[in-house]
Amino acid sequence: MRIHLKVWRQPGPTSAGRLVEYTAERVSPDMSFLEMLDVVNETLIARREDPIAFDSDCREGICGTCGFLVNGVAHGPEPGTTVCQLHMRRFKDGDTLIVEPWRAKAFPLIKDLVVDRTAFDRIIQAGGYTSVNVGGAPDGNAILVPKAVADKAMDSAACIGCGACVAACKNASAALFTSAKVSHLGLLPQGEVERHTRVVRMVERHDTEGFGSCSNEGECEAVCPKEIPITNIARMNRDYFRAMLASR
Ligand code: SF4
Ligand code: FES
Repeated sequence: MRIHLKVWRQPGPTSAGRLVEYTAERVSPDMSFLEMLDVVNETLIARREDPIAFDSDCREGICGTCGFLVNGVAHGPEPGTTVCQLHMRRFKDGDTLIVEPWRAKAFPLIKDLVVDRTAFDRIIQAGGYTSVNVGGAPDGNAILVPKAVADKAMDSAACIGCGACVAACKNASAALFTSAKVSHLGLLPQGEVERHTRVVRMVERHDTEGFGSCSNEGECEAVCPKEIPITNIARMNRDYFRAMLASR
């Protein structure tokens, strides 16, 4: 396959950026999108040009490091898939693809397709943990958790912190990410003790970092590679209001 690319190139946070055109030749349909970019970069390096900067780590869809927009869609057109697991067979020979970084005030651009997502780390630091002594594995096994609740908690824990939900939201809200983290701890008995303080701290940190408010667009759920449901956001809002009432 031959793929035409328009890639956002920006040398640094304060430099001007622009779309630069490249052609990827002899692309195998079995390559992932990142492998296709690797081939483009090898060509650029051979020409002594600056390779395209992009993030990746596991390339198995489990770490949340990769992520950019393909033709305006976070992680590209394949539902429930990260760009590292997006295969070129999803596209046609001769396609033109526009590749851009996440765009959100709370994710400042570092270079090309790489953005700073440490705002997510600070939301986790604000309350995404349990600090009570929950004992060892035998204690855990002694506390029975209904299967439906355990399933919901595990589904929420699947969030890999990629940031696609923020990139897709017109308000650049991180409500889906934050609510997934709030749910995965708050639904379980071990996380119940700090449920109120956790949700308040994490929501307040979310706002302080400059993420916008949720207005129920549903774009976050549509692009989430782990298909985290927006019912988590409703649960987070209920928990937040309960916590506010309890504090009075
Ligand atoms: S909720 Fe989904 S889109 Fe958002 S950070 Fe988690 S895995 Fe990525
Ligand atoms: S590189 Fe780990 S999820 Fe894509």
